[in-house]
This record gives sequence, C-alpha cells and structure tokens, in this order.
Amino acid sequence: MMRKKIIAGNWKMNKTPKEATEFCKLMKDKVASSEVDVVFCVPFVDLYPALEELKGAGIGVGAENMHFEDSGAYTGEISPLMLKEMGVSYVVLGHSERRQYFNETNDMVNKKVKKALEVGITPIMCCGETLEQREAGITIEWIRIQIKCGLAGLTAEEVSKVVIAYEPIWAIGTGKTATSEQAQEVCKAVRQVVGEVYGETTAQQVRIQYGGSVNGKNAAELFAMPDIDGGLVGGASLKEEFQEIVHYQK
Ligand code: 13P
Repeated sequence: MMRKKIIAGNWKMNKTPKEATEFCKLMKDKVASSEVDVVFCVPFVDLYPALEELKGAGIGVGAENMHFEDSGAYTGEISPLMLKEMGVSYVVLGHSERRQYFNETNDMVNKKVKKALEVGITPIMCCGETLEQREAGITIEWIRIQIKCGLAGLTAEEVSKVVIAYEPIWAIGTGKTATSEQAQEVCKAVRQVVGEVYGETTAQQVRIQYGGSVNGKNAAELFAMPDIDGGLVGGASLKEEFQEIVHYQK
C-alpha cells in the first residue's frame, strides 16, 4: 500500500490577510509538488486570501478549527458549511493548543471529526502526549485513548479518509524534535489501534503525520519512517524553509 505523503503547514495565529496573500504568492510555485499533498492551514480570516491566491496551484487550503454544528447560536464560532462553501478542503481538529487553552475534549473532537467527514472536509485529527506522560511511560496508552475516542462511531470507510497527526506536546515549538524512532513508535501504535478497531485495510490506508519542530533538516529522516506519512509543520511553515520540507526527497 503506497500512501501519498501529506505535508501541511499550520500557521496557528500568524499572518494577517495581506501577509497571507504575499506569502502564498511567494510560495505557490516553490511548494508545488505532484509527489506529495501540500496543504496550508490558516486562520479563518486568511482563508479567503489564501484560496484566491492559491487557485489552480494544486495546494490544499485548510482551517485550524471549526464548530460541530451546521449553524446556530454559537457566537464567535465558524460552521463547517461556511468552510465547505468557501472551498476549504482540510481542517485541523483537536490540536493540543485547542485542547490546552480552549478546553477541547476528546468528545468535542469526535463530534467535529464526524461533522467534517459529513460535509466533505478532510479532518487532520491531532493527538499527542505531554512530557509528564512520556516520562511516566503512559504515552502509548494515552494516544490509544485519544484515537479511539476521536474516531468513535465512524465507519471504516470514513476513518480511511482521516489524516491523523501525532504531535508530542513537548516537541511543539520547542526545537526539540522527537527522534525518528520515537515518532515512528507512536505512529505505528496509532496505525495499530486503528487496525484493531477498523480493520487492517483501513489501518493501511489512513495517513499519519508527525508534528513537532519539523524543519528542513530533519524532515527527510522523519518522513522515511514506515508509519510516518508526512508532517504537520508549525513554525517552519511560516517561512520559505517550508519548501525544503515539501521537497525533503531532493
Ligand atoms: P512547530 O512545528 O512549531 O513545533 O509546531 C508543530 C505544530 O503544532 C503543528 O501543528
């Protein structure tokens, strides 16, 4: 089973709409690739400029969050239907920063993943352990729970379309990348739990990214691991360096 690699930038709360347009203009040819799927996940107000600038460039545009209802009295939230109509094709769900600062739970993440699939947006569902959990030796158990809860109630066919991002919290924004062995161990465990619940075919189809201080220098080694199907990139996706990650094979 050859899974196409998927390399996604997560801009987090960076770049104004003007800066988004400029950056997309600068980068679109540099990150064009037929070998890997390339995605820019951007703040809500940058979606329109990014979609406009990246038209026809073969680069996917994603949101960084969304609500799980179609519409309603949810002041300040963004609906999946709004994203879909704009042409957004991916959405990051359950990022550790959302779990940590905005109290997102596995249950909410599960509702969002279901909804994204229902409207036809590819969810990039995040999981990851804290340093404390790693040191306590409970990383794999914790990740298994996040995956089982996040994907609960989906069909095997739906799960095969989900992108899962393993992002150890201690490696995010710290410059402290997980070793490729550490990242592989957990990504393999993610594939294994998907296989236990949804079957081996689904497990072989689902794409699993690594995230956490991925840069132009370490991408090739990480992405060469058998269960790592690309990366979710924060800091380095804001800079021209992102092209080195996309073209990690060169
Ligand atoms: P950094 O690449 O800045 O460590 O961020 C990783 C991340 O959280 C991507 O979602």
